[in-house]
Amino acid sequence: MSQDELKQAVAQAALDYILPHLEDDMIIGIGTGSTANFFIDALAKVKDRFEGTVASSEASVERLKSHGIPVYDLNSISELRFYIDGADESNDNLHLIKGGGAALTREKIVAAVAEEFICIADESKMVDVLGRFPLPVEVVPMARSYVARELVRLGGDPAYREGVVTDNGNVILDVWNMSITDPVAMETAINQITGVVTNGLFASRPANVLLLGTKDGVKTIK
Ligand code: A5P
Repeated sequence: MSQDELKQAVAQAALDYILPHLEDDMIIGIGTGSTANFFIDALAKVKDRFEGTVASSEASVERLKSHGIPVYDLNSISELRFYIDGADESNDNLHLIKGGGAALTREKIVAAVAEEFICIADESKMVDVLGRFPLPVEVVPMARSYVARELVRLGGDPAYREGVVTDNGNVILDVWNMSITDPVAMETAINQITGVVTNGLFASRPANVLLLGTKDGVKTIK
């Protein structure tokens, strides 16, 4: 099976997971990236069985709207039963690294509101220790150099993601060469740096369920 086929399989598994719970007035949280895109395409088939969505990026808003799926402002929503999104890495505790697509802040906000965060990923994303994938950090532009120096003090090797501006008007530093053995502590420490909007560690609020696409089928990890 190709990586895209694995992503398609987990997207379908996520749809099967939420199907029995769909209600006419339900709003669903939608993530960003190629795996989330497969989920959006699958969700389009049942778009008459729920009210609409909130999305974690302008790119996902566009894709949802192209399928005729309504997208709402998160500020008008008080309850979100599910949030479905991909990840760049996951460990056994479902602590994640996200933000490869630069959407980490909005992803973290929607995940914070959601009752259940269903992560969908192919098996290449599973690691023993987070940090092989460079950790994205969203930074207010004028703080970029200062934050980079502070990230070096924390043991990382930050690189400016040239040419990328987030949906929030900020920049991304990708932090290489960190072996993140305590994801909750590292997430907290990085978020304490003035000028950091947020970082791509989803450890304080991990996923609740990981649907992992493997050559032997989709595994459910809780
Ligand atoms: C977007 O900013 C990311 O957090 C994505 O969720 C993550 O990069 C996974 O992307 P793919 O599904 O494209 O691998």
